[in-house]
Amino acid sequence: MTLLNHSPSRIKSNQDQCDLRYKTLDITLKRNRHQPDALIEVLHKAQESFGYLEEGVLRYIARQLKLPLSRVYGVASFYHLFNLEPSGAHRCIVCLGTACYVKGAGQILEQLETTLQVKVGETTPDGQISLLSARCLGACGIAPAVVLDDVVSGQQTAESAIHAVQSVRTPVVAGQGD
Ligand code: FES
Repeated sequence: MTLLNHSPSRIKSNQDQCDLRYKTLDITLKRNRHQPDALIEVLHKAQESFGYLEEGVLRYIARQLKLPLSRVYGVASFYHLFNLEPSGAHRCIVCLGTACYVKGAGQILEQLETTLQVKVGETTPDGQISLLSARCLGACGIAPAVVLDDVVSGQQTAESAIHAVQSVRTPVVAGQGD
């Protein structure tokens, strides 16, 4: 498991965090009694939680709503507001849910936008980093949280998030750099 700085003992494993994101999705599914009619709302919630709609999430939604995967995929790809995958080689997702926002997630996102010279939802011109946002990763206890390539890091600052992004963008070679 890869962990990125700040209180590693409080940072849960990637699998745990994934489960928490699915838990958030489950709340929406339950509220809608797993009705197929709720597909768009569920897709919205999934995108809010995951930043984009990866195949595993679409499969999960299809199972939960008892819909063919082709239908779920068809709806998700029809509406341009849904992202099926980030185009960058790496994905940086800043949580803008309430718990993270009050602890400075907005500034983290702003600084990342400035440093990477992209707006949220965009990919850097070199195709390296897609900058995305989510609305609660289910990791409020370690807010503010940032996900970089599916690794969730808690108690982030603008500096730590920028450092992490720059690290994957330009891998540090042993014996060089900091
Ligand atoms: S608000 Fe960010 S993890 Fe819940």
